[in-house]
Amino acid sequence: MPDEASSPKPTRRTVVRGGVTIGAALAVAPHLAAPAAAAVSEGAPRRLALTVNGQDLTLDLDPRTSLLDALREHAGTTGPKKGCNQGACGACTVLLDGQRVLSCLTFAVLHDGQEVTTVEGIADGDRLHPVQQAFMDHDAFQCGFCTSGQIVSAVGLLSEEPGITKDRIPEAMSGNLCRCAAYCNIRDAIETASAATTQAKGR
Ligand code: FES
Ligand code: FES
Repeated sequence: MPDEASSPKPTRRTVVRGGVTIGAALAVAPHLAAPAAAAVSEGAPRRLALTVNGQDLTLDLDPRTSLLDALREHAGTTGPKKGCNQGACGACTVLLDGQRVLSCLTFAVLHDGQEVTTVEGIADGDRLHPVQQAFMDHDAFQCGFCTSGQIVSAVGLLSEEPGITKDRIPEAMSGNLCRCAAYCNIRDAIETASAATTQAKGR
C-alpha cells in the first residue's frame, strides 16, 4: 500500500480522518457549516455520467446526493448497503476507477465520468470472482448484510496488495465491520482468494 502521507490520492483512511477533522471543525465553529451547506444545496439538478458495472448511465441528481444514494436509488444497484451512512462500517464500499471508497461519504456529482464497480459487477458472467467463491467456500458470512461491502473491499485490497498474507488482512480490512463477527472466516476467505489470484497471475 502506498505511503498515505506522500500519496496524492485520498485513501479510505485519509477520507475518514478528513471527515473526522471537518466534523470536529464544524463542531467548534458551527458558523462555518452554513456557507458550505448553501454551496452544496443551491442550484438545479446536475447531470452526470457514470459507468456502473460496465453500463453507461446519465443521471440528473440533486447535487447533495451521495454516491451511495445515486447507486441505490437511481442506478438500480442495491449491492452497496447503507449501514451507518457516516463512514464507519464499510457496508457501502464500491470500487471507483478500481480504488475502494466509501460511497456514503462522497457526493455523486464529484465523480462525473468515472467508473463504479459494485458487487454485482465483479463476477465474470456465470463464473464467480475468486473472492466471491472463497467467501462461499469459507462460509464467510452469517446475516450477509456486510458481505457485499466486504467482498468489494477485498477485491480492491487484492489489487492494492497482491499476495497479501493472513496476518496483514485484518488491518487492511479494518474499515469493514461485521456485526455477526464472521471475521475469522472472512480473513480465511481473503487469504484463499489471495493465493488463488496470485497463482492465476503466475500461470
Ligand atoms: S454506510 Fe458507508 S461506511 Fe457505513
Ligand atoms: S455477516 Fe452479518 S454483519 Fe457481517
